[in-house]
Amino acid sequence: PVRAVERMARDEPESLAALNAVIARSEPLVPGATQAVLGEGPVGAAIAFVGEQPGDQEDRQGRPFVGPAGQLLSRALEEAGIDRSAAYLTNAVKHFKFTLRGKRRIHEKPTAGEVSHYRWWLDRELDFVAPKLVVALGATAVLALTGKSIPITRARGPAEFGRPFGGFITVHPSYLLRLPDAAKDEAYRAFVHDLRRVHDLAR
Ligand code: URA
Repeated sequence: PVRAVERMARDEPESLAALNAVIARSEPLVPGATQAVLGEGPVGAAIAFVGEQPGDQEDRQGRPFVGPAGQLLSRALEEAGIDRSAAYLTNAVKHFKFTLRGKRRIHEKPTAGEVSHYRWWLDRELDFVAPKLVVALGATAVLALTGKSIPITRARGPAEFGRPFGGFITVHPSYLLRLPDAAKDEAYRAFVHDLRRVHDLAR
């Protein structure tokens, strides 16, 4: 039997590094992922971005937001005057989930049950990072941060996550990638506009 002190030490990590060690050792809830993708960025970052779950590239490289959506996010952050390396980037769900189509691994959206399974970790993680502002990128992040399914179009902008940091809701960069070409530019500009507001709110 595990003694109470040991259980406390296991269940309540005392630092972000200790929490990350627990996450890194954990098995994916749905088998298939290569590794857990941990959050990245400094403790005390003014802004923390929460995405959905790692994609194919993130799963291979073990870093958040390095694939196509991440590259688009990087470009938009730069245009909005936000230094990506000074921000904290993480995901609601820490393991990639996919279906195979031939050799391609096609991203599958996490279920509400999966989001809630990972939620304890995200909460502890944000406690340790203690940002001024948390930005939910898309509906899965909103679900993870609020426990509610809220359409982004209605909730977009400053938000209240019932936590000691400010909140902001915007679209996920992969949504921009999926839009028809005719709609892409305007949606991208609106995303950069949101990120400029984020930058101002986190000053
Ligand atoms: N999409 C996400 O939500 N997170 C990543 O890390 C990459 C793509």
